[in-house]
Amino acid sequence: MQYVFVGATRGMGRALARRMVARGDTLFLLGRDAEGLDRCATDLRARAGREDAVVGVGALDLLQPDGFGPAVDAAVAALGSVDGFVVSAGLFAPGPALEADLALAERVLRANFTGTILLCEHARRHLLPSKGQLVVFSSVAGDRGRKPIAIYGASKAGLSHYLESVDHRFAADGLRVLTVKPGFVRTAMTAGLPEPPFAGEPDAVAKRVLAAMDAGKPVVYAPAIWALVMLVIRLLPRFVMRRVGF
Ligand SMILES: NC(=O)c1ccc[n+]([C@@H]2O[C@H](COP(=O)([O-])OP(=O)(O)OC[C@H]3O[C@@H](n4cnc5c(N)ncnc54)[C@H](OP(=O)(O)O)[C@@H]3O)[C@@H](O)[C@H]2O)c1
Repeated sequence: MQYVFVGATRGMGRALARRMVARGDTLFLLGRDAEGLDRCATDLRARAGREDAVVGVGALDLLQPDGFGPAVDAAVAALGSVDGFVVSAGLFAPGPALEADLALAERVLRANFTGTILLCEHARRHLLPSKGQLVVFSSVAGDRGRKPIAIYGASKAGLSHYLESVDHRFAADGLRVLTVKPGFVRTAMTAGLPEPPFAGEPDAVAKRVLAAMDAGKPVVYAPAIWALVMLVIRLLPRFVMRRVGF
């Protein structure tokens, strides 16, 4: 299968890309760091033992939507045809940092909400004719308004809402949409943060995401326990949410 992949350079995206090339998928990598993309492509080709594990890399910054169209078109042209897009790229900062720095807050909102959604709109145009799959990393942070994650959570809530709507809108046309909702996972994004219970590892998340992709599921929580955790959190009354610190 042939995929455009945005976010393979690090974290959960890197783990997923490694699993995908190991099973024979072919990728075109998009990202903002040219050297990081080249390193990532070399690593993936070596792991897969195939030069065509990665057929090319190209520049795409989630904060610069003007570049999305040409980048996506070039990636699809290099692949020849496309079965799916994976978007694991995203931006995080803790609540207090975002509340103190509105320029940073704007970047997080633009990258995770406006940028990711516009990128998905470009991807959708290529995926509809091939009845392909759109796989996007949102977050459990978007499932409920919570004290420490107002701004990042809002960006992911908006993204999850969009992905669910696109799923409803285009499912009958054959488009498959998978919203990935990680809980706390140990990556560069969460380095130095206090760990909650049920913290996960990127490769275990990647394994679960790949299984959900193959099964054609619309939503996957990873690690799995976070589906239950968020079910409970969604059910908590507002007066309880006001009192608790998470
Ligand atoms: N880790 C968690 O606990 C957690 C929990 C819930 C949801 N998530 C979400 O899951 C996804 C993956 O998270 P992760 O922890 O694996 O993150 P990570 O290790 O920090 O990797 C983030 C990836 O996003 C790319 N990226 C960041 N800003 C970008 C931009 N402006 N344009 C293009 N690419 C950009 C990075 O590329 P560079 O190599 O260029 O930096 C990198 O490949 C994210 O969407 C995140 O919000 C993470």
